Amino acid sequence: MIEIKNVSKNYGEIQALKNVSFEINSGELFGLLGPNGAGKTTLINLLNTYLPLKAGSITINGLSIKSDVKELKQIMGVVPQEISLYEELTAMENMKFWGNNYRIKSEILKDRIEYYLKLTGLYKRRHSPVAEYSGGMKRRLNIASSLLHEPKILMMDEPTVGVDPQSRNYIFELIEKLHEEGRTIIYTTHYMAEAERLCERIAIIDYGKIIALGTKEELYKILEHKNALHLTFIDKIDSEEVQKIVPEFDIRKKSKNSVYISGDNLIKRIPNILKKLEQYKNETVDIHIIRPNLENVFLQLTGRELRE
Ligand SMILES: Nc1ncnc2c1ncn2[C@@H]1O[C@H](COP(=O)(O)OP(=O)(O)O)[C@@H](O)[C@H]1O
Ligand SMILES: [Mg+2]
Repeated sequence: MIEIKNVSKNYGEIQALKNVSFEINSGELFGLLGPNGAGKTTLINLLNTYLPLKAGSITINGLSIKSDVKELKQIMGVVPQEISLYEELTAMENMKFWGNNYRIKSEILKDRIEYYLKLTGLYKRRHSPVAEYSGGMKRRLNIASSLLHEPKILMMDEPTVGVDPQSRNYIFELIEKLHEEGRTIIYTTHYMAEAERLCERIAIIDYGKIIALGTKEELYKILEHKNALHLTFIDKIDSEEVQKIVPEFDIRKKSKNSVYISGDNLIKRIPNILKKLEQYKNETVDIHIIRPNLENVFLQLTGRELRE
């Protein structure tokens, strides 16, 4: 179990983390979801001892992040946000470099390199220099190298940024497999759909604070209204005009020509909404129902959109 208590971190004037406390269970696939600059990487780097912890405490399986660094390094693996590979070296050579860094005996290392290159779908390209790899392949190699010492806890900091859709799916399946094998995985992302798809529990972080934490179903309960209607009009709209037509609903502008409408028993009241909108000069051209999602949870909590 990972216990994070009252952790703060400043970079000069910038308060990157503000009194953060929560726990991650052993074997959990845990998501840290928040916009750019929220403090995700800072927290990951405190957990993996890359940054010194000065305010608060963190223990991992009972070991202190401050005094048991050597033991912790053996059980933790990190896939950093910035890809760290030697471009001129091949995948094999990069893996050897990282394996030697972890002081893995060469006969064991050989087998592990083969195993993890196969697992990440890179074995056939093992002798090509990394410079010739796509963004997705580099990410996969970064993941493979983080697994060489077979860590029980894996931290992945935005591992799908700059990755093509095919590699992204490959990475998701890989994460699910690593999780099924019993590893604890901490996954940071600013893509709410990724957190929804992958994570058992999710902490939403914003401006250095955890603003919500739970399973996605628990987080959806925060929503005032379960569903919303996304209405698109042919021309640009003034959301106040739409509000006047349906004063009994909550209206939020989505784009220059679309709004979200929400309210109690929304679905049953759709015919009524459409009927009223007939009097609006602007023609409705598209309508669909938005199911509860983390984007809306974030919006409700912060008043801002969690943009990609
Ligand atoms: N080395 C640094 N020096 C100064 N400010 C930093 C540094 N690293 C991060 N920050 C600031 O700390 C805040 C949190 O950053 P970060 O942890 O990288 O967020 P995230 O990973 O969620 O995008 C941001 O305001 C960022 O600009
Ligand atoms: Mg980051």
